[in-house]
Amino acid sequence: MTLADTSTEVLAVPAERGTCPFDPPPAYDLAREQDPVAPVRLFDGSTAWMLTRHQDVRAVLQDRRFSADGTKDGFPFLSPGRRELATGNPTFIRMDDPEHARLRRMLTSDFIIKRVEEMRPQVRAIAVELLDAMTRDRDHADLVAEFALPLPSLVICLLLGVPYQDHAYFQKCSSTLLNANSTAEQVHQARDDLNTYIKQLAESKRDSDDEDIISRLMRREDLSPDEVATMGTLLLVAGHETTANMTSLSILTLLRDPEQMARLRSDPGLIRGAVEELLRYLSIVHTGLPRVATEDVELNGRTIRAGDGVLLMINTANRDSEAFPDADSLDVGRDARRHLAFGFGVHQCLGQPLARAELQIALDVLLTGLPNLRLAVPFEQIPFRHDMLIYGVHRLPIAW
Ligand code: HEM
Repeated sequence: MTLADTSTEVLAVPAERGTCPFDPPPAYDLAREQDPVAPVRLFDGSTAWMLTRHQDVRAVLQDRRFSADGTKDGFPFLSPGRRELATGNPTFIRMDDPEHARLRRMLTSDFIIKRVEEMRPQVRAIAVELLDAMTRDRDHADLVAEFALPLPSLVICLLLGVPYQDHAYFQKCSSTLLNANSTAEQVHQARDDLNTYIKQLAESKRDSDDEDIISRLMRREDLSPDEVATMGTLLLVAGHETTANMTSLSILTLLRDPEQMARLRSDPGLIRGAVEELLRYLSIVHTGLPRVATEDVELNGRTIRAGDGVLLMINTANRDSEAFPDADSLDVGRDARRHLAFGFGVHQCLGQPLARAELQIALDVLLTGLPNLRLAVPFEQIPFRHDMLIYGVHRLPIAW
């Protein structure tokens, strides 16, 4: 069967989550069991294939017959804003090799494990300072605003050479870019604003001999200031929203699961593994990684034709019991390293060593520093980010 043969009665995506806000939409789980290469309907009425099994998602992410280039015909978009983001002035996340590799290579040394390990004391000092400020003379706060969001924002600002005092501005632009309900015009404006902001900053660093990423990119002869601006924008957005949401959602998940929380508190040696398990269990990039086929591909009895869009559901793949026994249970002691929360293949998350270090440090500092940590409002009042491309919570009122 090909996409053209599918009926109009296909699942519309994104689908809604069920009763548990940590679980992927039940319709995706059903697809994984019954129709792992399923046709789905997108916002503009077009169709694409949705892949939900761990094995298939992993295979397609490293298959060069699938392109990440959003300007190619058939590329699947989940909203008008998303289409605008991928087609106008794209960054290397929406490019194929060799251009993607050329740009990505300029940044790899900044995010290798060795470099990140050297940064750990600095990240920990920031985390401890934020915790001190949050808890001084108070017994409650919003964890998102006072800890989870500032921590990765301060770190990515340091790395890029962006002044943190501008955080309200870049966080606002970034929210517009990542809001599934933003119109194409709003996304266009927010991206232009952010690019202009980074470009002006980059121009001001043209003659500097600072070692921050933007200054170093500006000294290269093979990059234009516009390219520096789009790369800086990608790093700034990807570098703070993701880790911030993982931090607050992880804490909320542990607060809802006192047994796992107690295990983690009693054995801090579990933290590294627990971060992988939380990345797997929560899979905050929850709307699917988009690709388009450049050749005909046979998969599970379906023919994906050249020009067909594909959505790779890493959230459902990470709950596939073929890959992770009892996949719907959170188990901080399990070996979850094969998870796909950072993607896979050539576009696998560039910032993952940094994200891991930030998450490990954030959890350690919060669990050690707040032995009586609890929710300050009933669970039902927590606003989940159903409207955002990166899942999480808008606010997390906590007390200690
Ligand atoms: C790519 C997830 C943190 C920078 C990706 C992709 C995923 C992802 C799933 C693959 C996208 C695709 O294949 O289409 C996450 C998660 C994070 C996180 C879950 C935190 C928990 C970060 C951080 C940075 C970052 C801290 C820092 C700079 C990037 C970049 C790419 C990327 C530049 C594009 C890589 C490429 O196209 O070659 N991320 N990310 N991410 N991420 Fe992350």
